[in-house]
Amino acid sequence: MQLTASPPTAPVPLDKIDLYDPGRYQHGEQHASWHALRTTAPVWAQHTPEGDRFWSVTTYRDVSRVLMDDRRFSSAHGTILAVARGDSAGGKTINLMDQPDHASVRLPTMRTMATRLVRERRERVRGHLRRILDGHLDHGEPVDFAELMLQLPMAGVGEIIGIPVRHWSSIVRWAMAGVAPADPEYATGSEEDTLRHAHHELMALFSDLIGQRRRQRRDDLISVLLDLDFGGRRMNEHEVLLNCYSFAMGAITTTPQVASHMVLAFADQPQAWRTLRANPDLIPSAVEEALRWASPTNHLMRRTLTEVQIGDVRLDEGELVCAWVGSANRDEQVFADPYAFDPARTPNPHLAFGVGAHRCIGGPAAQVALAVLLEELIARCDRFELAGEVTHLYSNFINGITHLPVRVRTSDREVALP
Ligand code: HEM
Repeated sequence: MQLTASPPTAPVPLDKIDLYDPGRYQHGEQHASWHALRTTAPVWAQHTPEGDRFWSVTTYRDVSRVLMDDRRFSSAHGTILAVARGDSAGGKTINLMDQPDHASVRLPTMRTMATRLVRERRERVRGHLRRILDGHLDHGEPVDFAELMLQLPMAGVGEIIGIPVRHWSSIVRWAMAGVAPADPEYATGSEEDTLRHAHHELMALFSDLIGQRRRQRRDDLISVLLDLDFGGRRMNEHEVLLNCYSFAMGAITTTPQVASHMVLAFADQPQAWRTLRANPDLIPSAVEEALRWASPTNHLMRRTLTEVQIGDVRLDEGELVCAWVGSANRDEQVFADPYAFDPARTPNPHLAFGVGAHRCIGGPAAQVALAVLLEELIARCDRFELAGEVTHLYSNFINGITHLPVRVRTSDREVALP
């Protein structure tokens, strides 16, 4: 099933829209709903099943405005709808902090993730990727690309964070269970049991790694977190742990989805793949289009710190506001032909990494991993053919693919890369 190729046909009546129900995201219904909201109700109220009201903003302009204005729209209460009542890590992790705490974690950790540093790691990432791809693409049998791509984030940032290779495959499954505990692919019991188990496994792993770094610092993010100045003191064990968790979750739950949605789009549009193979200098713009197309985080939630006006609606202090990034990235006021996947699209001011103070810190590393992936696929794959049913994640937060059976027609010719 290709979810997002065509523009919505009939307008959806507002009373049929439900942006909370995670099941609807498995069938691509969000695009028609977002389209209807952008055009008829750009600031729209709904309640969670527990009865908490949240306001949805869906246009590019409103989404960017909310995300840019971190003085009035706070992240500290929680940034995903699943924890509308408040995130237990609120105020403690980089993504759930307001200023000035946020800057004290962001600035030192950003240095580890800087564009220049991640570009220098390019060939190392390629080595990891070749090990992931080798033996999977060259025998003509269907391969589950979604499963394979779960390894992409650790190939990109595992070493930067400080996670040894032997933990890479288990950590990704626990991270995905943490974000989609009710999806059959990741559930290990009831939703609560799965969450508890996933958190326990991730925390145990990071506790162990933090203990090792306490004894001996390395050139990695865990060591940076241990030493940074957090308002005149060091972070305590729990705070370091939660932040490690946050970085790992940020990488793992998003990067594979871009790769999977991209391959699905190329399977759907063989001509676009042929064009890219013939013009590998389009790789950077293809990566940006894949980011826009996939928009792995459907929404980012904030809570108002003061009364605030958005469009025609006046919100009180303490209201929940959901900025639907996936909708902003299909806004026809900003993107020409937004439902077309166009690897040559320029300019492409997508919001897949967010915008403002919390803009994704791992963005440059993700761009490198995705570009190297494309280079490796271009060198090996003539075309992608769907070889079975594509299934999508049960989540209103992550726009995920759980199974993507693809048969790869391999290349017998050399492709010159730029
Ligand atoms: C394609 C891949 C990725 C996408 C689409 C993505 C998306 C995002 C978005 C939308 C935000 C903003 C959150 C907000 O405003 O509340 C964000 C923040 C963040 N991302 Fe990513 N991310 C990706 C890869 C990564 C990677 C590889 C890492 C690596 C460690 C990472 C770590 C983080 C962290 C720590 C934050 C919080 C930054 C802050 O609050 O200052 N992400 N990401």
